[in-house]
Amino acid sequence: MDMQRPAGTVASIMQEDRLFPPPAEFSARARIGSMEDYSRLYAEVARDPQAFWHSRAQSLPWMTPYSSVLDWKPPHAEWFVGGRTNASAACLDQHINAGRGDKTALVWVGEPTGERREYTYSQLHAEVCRCAAGLRSLGIRPGEVVSIYMPMTPELVIAMLACARIGAVHSVIFGGFSSEAIADRNADAQAVAVITADGGWRRGAQLALKKNVDVALTKSPSVRHVVVLRRTGQAIDMVPGRDVWWHDLVAGMPTDTPAEPMDSEAPLFILYTSGSTGKPKGIKHTTAGYILWAKTTAEWVFDLRDDDLFWCTADCGWITGHSYVTYGPLAAGASILIYEGAPNAPHEGRFWEIIEQEKPTIFYTAPTAIRSFMKWGMEHIEGRDLSSLRLLGTVGEGINPEAWMWYHEVIGGKRCPIVDTWWQTETGGIMMSPLPGCTPTKPGSCTLPLPGVMPEIVDASGAPVRPGEGGWLVITHPWPGMLRGIWGDEARFEETYWSRVPGKYLAGDNARQDADGYYWIMGRIDDVLNVAGHRLSTIEIESALVSHPLVAEAAAVGRPHDVKGEAVAVFVTLQSGQADEATKDLLRRHVRQQIGALAVPDDIHFAAILPKTRSGKIMRRLLRDIAAGRETVGDTTTLEDYSSLAALRANDE
Ligand code: WTA
Repeated sequence: MDMQRPAGTVASIMQEDRLFPPPAEFSARARIGSMEDYSRLYAEVARDPQAFWHSRAQSLPWMTPYSSVLDWKPPHAEWFVGGRTNASAACLDQHINAGRGDKTALVWVGEPTGERREYTYSQLHAEVCRCAAGLRSLGIRPGEVVSIYMPMTPELVIAMLACARIGAVHSVIFGGFSSEAIADRNADAQAVAVITADGGWRRGAQLALKKNVDVALTKSPSVRHVVVLRRTGQAIDMVPGRDVWWHDLVAGMPTDTPAEPMDSEAPLFILYTSGSTGKPKGIKHTTAGYILWAKTTAEWVFDLRDDDLFWCTADCGWITGHSYVTYGPLAAGASILIYEGAPNAPHEGRFWEIIEQEKPTIFYTAPTAIRSFMKWGMEHIEGRDLSSLRLLGTVGEGINPEAWMWYHEVIGGKRCPIVDTWWQTETGGIMMSPLPGCTPTKPGSCTLPLPGVMPEIVDASGAPVRPGEGGWLVITHPWPGMLRGIWGDEARFEETYWSRVPGKYLAGDNARQDADGYYWIMGRIDDVLNVAGHRLSTIEIESALVSHPLVAEAAAVGRPHDVKGEAVAVFVTLQSGQADEATKDLLRRHVRQQIGALAVPDDIHFAAILPKTRSGKIMRRLLRDIAAGRETVGDTTTLEDYSSLAALRANDE
C-alpha cells in the first residue's frame, strides 16, 4: 500500500485524502502493531480459516468438545459442530476460574446524578446465577424465548446473561419501542416470559415500561410470566400469578447456578431489526461462533488490555449493546462502563462529566451522537479532563469527515486513534474497521476487513465491479459470528441475503474501494433508512400510517438531517379529515404508538395524490428530492399525473 500517494480516486470523488497513521506509542503497545502484522494475520486466516478458528476456539469453556470446526452448506453454516459450551460461562466463570474474580466487570452510572454501582466479575456472576435460578424456578426451559424490555441498568446485562446461563433465548426489545412493537415481537418469537422494569429514566422523565408491557400482553398469549425490576418506584399494576418482582424472584436463590451445556449452534438470542418489508425480522445468533466472534473482534478492534475501562454508549436494545457492551468485552475479561440515560441529562456535558469521573480508556459511540455534541457546543467540553481516553470508535452509520475531525481533535486530543467500524445486526460483530495500532485511517472510511472477513463489491449480475466503482457489498465466505437465520422464516432468510448474489452474503449496503483498497460504505440498496444510527424500514412506517382511518395512502422516505444523518419524511394522502397541523399531530402520535418514538416522522407532507409510475409504483426518488428540497432531476415522463408533482411542490412551504 502506498501511504504517500497524493490525492487520487478518493480525493476526486470523496474530497477526502487525509491520512492519519496511528501514534507510534499506541502501535508499540498494541496487539497488532504494524500493517505487516495485519497482512500476515489476514493471510493466515484466509489460507486456512478452520485451523485459525480452531486455535482461537481453545479460549472458550468447552463442556463437550466439538468434532469439526465448520460445516458450510450455503447458506447454512454450523461452527464447532457437536460441541457444548455456554455464553455466560465464557463471560463470567472462565475469568473467575482463572483467578480474576475480583476484577471490575461492570461500572454503572444512573441517569439521576450520584447513582452508581460497581460489580466485580464474582459479584456479577453471583447476580447472574440468582437471576438464572429464578428464571428456572418459573419453569423456563432451554430453547424458550424470553423478551427483555428494560432500561440500561446492570440488571439488563444480568438478565441477558441469566437467559444465556439456562439456555433460554433472549430477545431484547429497545425501551423506546411501543407496546405494539413488543406484542409483534412476542408473537413472532412465541416468547414465554418478559423481563421488564416499572420504568426507566430518560431525560429526567420516567418511561412507562411496565405499562407498555401490560398493553402488549393483551395480545401475547404465549407469555406466562413477567419479571419486574423496581427501578423508578413509579406506580404500576402487578397481575397476580403472572407478574413477579425481580427482588422477590431472586431472593434466596443460589449464587452458583450451573451453566447449561448448550450446543454450539443452539440459539443464544434473537434481535429484531428492520428490513425492506413492514415486518421486522428476528435475526438469529447462536452460541459458540457468536461468542468467539464478539470476543475476538473486541480484542482486535479495541485492542483491549487488562487495565482498560471500555465505554460503549449503545443500549442493549441494539446489536452494538449485545456484542460490545455485553458479550464481546465480558468474554474478553474487560471492565465495562454503562450509563443509563440520555447524553443531555441533566446537562449537555453529561458524557464528559462521566469520563472525567469514571476515566474510561475507550469510548465507542455513534456519529449521530457526535454531531449532537458538536451542535451543543464547546462550552460543555472545555475544562473537562478527557485524558483517560486512548481510543475512540464509531458505529451505526458512516461518519462525515467533519464530525470525524471534530471527534479526533476535541474528544481525542489528536492522540487517540479512531476506529470506524462497519458491521450489522446480521454479522454479529465488527467486519471492517481500522485496527488501532496499525491501520492508517481516512476520515469517513471503515478502511479494511478484519482477518476472516472476505468482502467483495459486485454488480447486479454478481460480477466484481471495476476498481474504484461502487456496487453491492457481499461477503464471500462464512465467519463464526454470522447470522444463522431469520426466526421462523427460512424463505425470507434465503431471499434477503443469499438469492440476489447466489452463495454470497448480501449485506444490503453499497460500497466502493479506493486505490489503497480501503472500503467506503455508500448507503443502503433497499428501502431501509438509517435514522440516528437506527434502522427503520420505510414500509414499516407506511404500514403504520395507513393503519390510521384518516389515511388513504402514504409514502415514507429519508431526507438528509444534520444530526440524525437521515430524518423521516412522509407523504400522506388523506381519506378524510383536514390537512392541517392537528392531523399531523394525530399521525405522529399514531406512529409513536405503532412503532415507537424513533419512527415518528420529522416532516409530514399532505398530497392529493402520490406520484406514481404507469405501473403504479410510488416514485420514491422524486419524493426524496422533494423531501430534501432538491431540484428534481431525471426523467419524470413516467409520472401518472404531473399535477401531483406540482401540487406537492406548491404545498412545500
Ligand atoms: C450502517 C449496527 C457506514 C450500514 C452495527 C449497515 C454503517 C447498517 C457503519 C447496520 C459504518 C453501520 N459506516 N455505515 N461504520 N456501521 N452502518 O444492523 O448501512 O443496526 O448495513 O447494525 O448500519 O445497522 P445495524
